[in-house]
Amino acid sequence: MNRVYIKTYGCQMNERDSQAVAALLRNKGYSIVSEEETADVILLNTCSVREQAEQKAIGKAGYITAKKRKKPNLILGIMGCMAQNKGDSLVDTLPDLDLVIGTQKFHRVPDHLDNMIASMNGLGPRPETVVDIEEEAGSQNTIKSHMDDGPKVSAFVSIMQGCNMKCSYCIVPKTRGAERARPMNEIVDEIQALADKGTKEVTLLGQIVNQYAVREFPFVDKKSPFVQLLEKVNAIEGIERIRFTSPHPVGFKDDLIECYQRLPKLCEYLHFPMQSGSNSILKAMRRPYSIEKFRQIIEKLRVIRPDIYISTDIIVGFPGETDEDFEATRSAFEAIGFDMAYIFKYSVRPGTTAEPEGDPISKETKEARNQILLDILGRSSLARNQSLVGTTQEVLLEGKAKRGDAMFIGRTRGYRKVIVPANERLIGELVDVHITDASVSSLNGELVIAD
Ligand code: 5AD
Ligand code: SF4
Repeated sequence: MNRVYIKTYGCQMNERDSQAVAALLRNKGYSIVSEEETADVILLNTCSVREQAEQKAIGKAGYITAKKRKKPNLILGIMGCMAQNKGDSLVDTLPDLDLVIGTQKFHRVPDHLDNMIASMNGLGPRPETVVDIEEEAGSQNTIKSHMDDGPKVSAFVSIMQGCNMKCSYCIVPKTRGAERARPMNEIVDEIQALADKGTKEVTLLGQIVNQYAVREFPFVDKKSPFVQLLEKVNAIEGIERIRFTSPHPVGFKDDLIECYQRLPKLCEYLHFPMQSGSNSILKAMRRPYSIEKFRQIIEKLRVIRPDIYISTDIIVGFPGETDEDFEATRSAFEAIGFDMAYIFKYSVRPGTTAEPEGDPISKETKEARNQILLDILGRSSLARNQSLVGTTQEVLLEGKAKRGDAMFIGRTRGYRKVIVPANERLIGELVDVHITDASVSSLNGELVIAD
């Protein structure tokens, strides 16, 4: 009864939460399996950001519930954002569910499983469904364990939880609660320990990372706590690359922009959510910046790092988005020339301030707007990749590529995916790769110094 399979939906934050749960379970004697069929326990770590994400996980849970008829001892748990959002009502939809674990209770999973398995082994009645979704002070400090299963080339580190922004479309403040930062020294210790075990790259995670600890830690020499943290991580020996996601344009000040010049390990790549290019839609979304301000930040970054790579998030079809509003988004999107983007069709979320406006933009209009942006993105991403053909790029080799035996996969500092023939012993190393050809989504190349 100790084989656990964890399936993760949603963002990197969720990936990281799943990893921490896996590590905690491992420490308690559970084994983490990569196939659902062999598992005694299936945990779905879920996302609520769009309705479709919830439907996917509910569909999956329904399918597993059906399997439970043949395998009655199988334990099924739903964790994370949808557990938090739907709570008890999930049990109404899925009566065979065993665990519902909220976003502040991930660390309680091992105890809940222990108890459940003990009572099943006692051949007692099937235990009641556990619904554990309360808020818990200090829960942000519980997402720090990492699996001890060999060096992790690139690791996520959660630096905070929750969000105090009030974007009108967004369910995250409801699912993740108020903003809570982890102490800076604990984050630095965690990254030092990762580096000691061979990690070369860290991605700092938070709902709004650049807001990190603005209330808990003072600014020093006009540097925000987030910038102070970046400096400390930059000083950790063994760490070669630093990334973070996601920042908010508000609070993206010169102290942070200058980091792209000062801190050599900070990669010249930024995920910078724009959401819309129309000022009236930004206002309706309660995003407290103008498109001019957003573009000004990008311009400043490009002065400091002309080669910076920028990706974004866009929502099309927000209530009230007229053709003119969309045109403003389209033209800003094209002018900025994003290297990567996630384009989402608006989805009404319960409890948000935009919920009462409903979903007045038709599916067809959303689809058409989505496609227009995807076409622009395809062109700009391909052009950026093609500009790299013939250059030499520093690539962190992360592992084997799916295609071909001796093919390996890595990323440039700009987060471009590179496929290269190499040797297994180079996994985890920074290697120079001569780029030979490019597609929209990846680059191919050859090692500059043969192994
Ligand atoms: N509908 C569509 N997309 C959304 N996002 C957040 N909420 C919604 C919603 N209700 C998008 C935003 C955010 C990304 C993680 O998901 O673009 O940056
Ligand atoms: Fe989804 Fe947002 Fe939760 Fe991440 S934080 S899992 S994107 S709802």
